[in-house]
Amino acid sequence: MRNYYIAGNWKMHKTVAESVALAKALVAELGSCGERVMIAPAFTALSAVADVVKGSRIVLGAQNMGPDLQGAHTGEISPLMLKDLGVTAVILGHSERRHSYLETDALINKKVLLALAQGLEPILCVGETLEERESGRLEAVVGAQVREGLKGVDAAALGKVTIAYEPVWAIGTGKTATPEDADAVHAYIRKVLAGLYGEAAAKAMCIQYGGSVKAENAAELMAKPNIDGALVGGASLKAESFGPIAKFRS
Ligand code: 13P
Repeated sequence: MRNYYIAGNWKMHKTVAESVALAKALVAELGSCGERVMIAPAFTALSAVADVVKGSRIVLGAQNMGPDLQGAHTGEISPLMLKDLGVTAVILGHSERRHSYLETDALINKKVLLALAQGLEPILCVGETLEERESGRLEAVVGAQVREGLKGVDAAALGKVTIAYEPVWAIGTGKTATPEDADAVHAYIRKVLAGLYGEAAAKAMCIQYGGSVKAENAAELMAKPNIDGALVGGASLKAESFGPIAKFRS
C-alpha cells in the first residue's frame, strides 16, 4: 500500500502564538494518522513549532530558503539555520516565488542541490499558468521545470526529492484540476523522470498535487495512480480542515 505525503504550506499566515496553537491541535489530531505529514509555518514560527512537533509524527518544513550557506545575503535564510531549528524538509520553487519574486529554474536548481547537500528533503514545485495550458505549452513548461530543477541531482539523491504539481490557476482559486487532469500531468512528470533516471526510480518518486485541495476532494485525488500526496495551502490553516485531508483514508 502506498504511503501518502500530505504537506501544509501555511504561506504568510499566523503569528507565533497562532502557529503554536495550530501545531498543537495537529499533533493531537494526527497522532494516529498513517500518512507522512509535514507542516511549513512562516520562518518566524519555525523555532516555536519545532518544540511542539518534536517527538510527534509531524515533519517540520520551511517554505523557502536561500541558495547559499552563509555570507553577505541580506534577508536570506540558510539551510544551516533551518537545520539548526529542526527543519528537515523545504518547499522550493513555489509558483508564488517564481511569479512574484521572479525565481528562475537556475536559482531553484541551486537551492535544490544545496538542500540535498545539507540533508534537507526538498519539495520541488512545478506547474503551468492558465495561459500556458490554454496555448498548449503545459508539457513543455512543466517538463522544463522538472528537468532544470533537477539538473545535477544524481540518482542516489533523487529519493530525497518530492515533486509537487501545482497548476498556478488552481492555487487559492477554489478551482481544482479534475483528478483525471491532475493524474495525466503527474503521469507526464513521471515520464520525464523515467527519461532522466529510469522507470524504477520514476515509479518510486512521490509526486504531490497542490491547488485547492480540501477534505471534500482529497480522497478522489489520492485515488489516482500517479498522485502520491498533497501540498495544501488554504485548507492547511485550520486543524478542522487539514486533519481530515491527512486522514482521508480513515
Ligand atoms: P491552496 O490549497 O490554497 O490552493 O494553495 C495551494 C498551494 O499553493 C500550496 O503550496
